Amino acid sequence: MKSMSTDSSSFSAYELASPSGTGRAKSRSIGSDSSTGQRDVTIVVLLLTIIALSCLLVYKSVDKPLQEMLPQWKTNLYSQNQTSLKTIQQTKPVSELERVLMNAAMEDNTVIITALNYAWTAPNSTFDLFLESFQTGLGTKKLLKHVIAVCLDSKAYDRCLQVHSHCYLINATDSDELSGKKLFMSPGYLKLIWRRMDLLKEVLSFGYNFLFTDADILWLRDPFPRFFPEIDFQISCDLYNGKPSDKNNHINSGFTYVKANNKTRIFYEYWCNSSERFPNRHDQDVFNSIKNEPFVLELGITMRF
Ligand SMILES: *[C@@H]1O[C@H](CO)[C@@H](O)[C@H](O)[C@H]1NC(C)=O
Ligand SMILES: *[C@@H]1O[C@H](CO)[C@@H](O)[C@H](O)[C@H]1NC(C)=O
Ligand SMILES: *[C@@H]1O[C@H](CO)[C@@H](O)[C@H](O)[C@H]1NC(C)=O
Ligand SMILES: *[C@@H]1O[C@H](CO)[C@@H](O)[C@H](O)[C@H]1NC(C)=O
Ligand SMILES: *[C@@H]1O[C@H](CO)[C@@H](O)[C@H](O)[C@H]1NC(C)=O
Repeated sequence: MKSMSTDSSSFSAYELASPSGTGRAKSRSIGSDSSTGQRDVTIVVLLLTIIALSCLLVYKSVDKPLQEMLPQWKTNLYSQNQTSLKTIQQTKPVSELERVLMNAAMEDNTVIITALNYAWTAPNSTFDLFLESFQTGLGTKKLLKHVIAVCLDSKAYDRCLQVHSHCYLINATDSDELSGKKLFMSPGYLKLIWRRMDLLKEVLSFGYNFLFTDADILWLRDPFPRFFPEIDFQISCDLYNGKPSDKNNHINSGFTYVKANNKTRIFYEYWCNSSERFPNRHDQDVFNSIKNEPFVLELGITMRF
């Protein structure tokens, strides 16, 4: 290939531009007249070079897609063959959650997540106000396309699909139980809170940063410029003592910004796991119980309040 491209560099467009008549005339004279024959050979070599180079370029540009396209092609071919279909899906599964994340993510893989049950999605209620705030807020309109509404029951999901482009229905066999109004700290409320925590853990494990926002927060300004850029975990507070690094601040998990990395992924796993050690407690209580445990301190996760 190298020698061919060296050759081609010594030929110029001038030779390609030579009168078309000569090309035709000379093709007949190959072998008889040595000088014109050589020119024909050079033209043939030139053409071959161009063809070979363009083939190489095309090949290089499709190099990867080709490999990725192949399984899809196979999927179509064997679409009625359950066995082979299954094998292909196992090699590259894309879950519904991943699909929603991909569609909603910003360029830096950040998503805004809120959680809904049907009680909050009734027309003219919380969710409508929440969405409207993005339209009215300063610099918030552009963020709306990154908001994922995580629905805890199918009624909320149906309603979400009518008014918003990124909806995700949590797989819940007990969705009826999750759908109504929940009194603070009732068993249904706790179930809902921990279901939400599991989901956020999953989001991190897929490598997406998230800003979780309760749906009863109105977005009047873009909060992103306000966050500390290098911090793993930033969370709002019910009671704030003015010291952003102080773990004694009393957290409120309704507004939480988390960068996806190994520390946060493991922290969320640990936080969710700890709900079993501290039964009948909500996420904030469990957070307070584990925040100074050796496991968390050794993890080295950075936090701001
Ligand atoms: C379906 O898959 C099985 C197992 O891979 C294979 O033996 C069979 O030939 C396939 N059938 C068709 C129609 O491709
Ligand atoms: C929603 O609220 C507005 C203002 O209060 C009212 O005009 C409208 O009829 C309500 N729509 C529904 C569907 O309840
Ligand atoms: C949905 O949840 C049920 C139990 O809650 C579980 O058995 C099932 O495997 C889950 N389905 C998916 C697709 O995750
Ligand atoms: C995160 O953990 C995975 C496996 O647990 C490891 O392969 C990877 O190197 C880790 N990344 C960093 C940045 O520590
Ligand atoms: C959480 O629990 C699961 C299942 O028991 C376990 O595999 C995992 O290692 C635990 N993770 C942490 C960080 O404690």
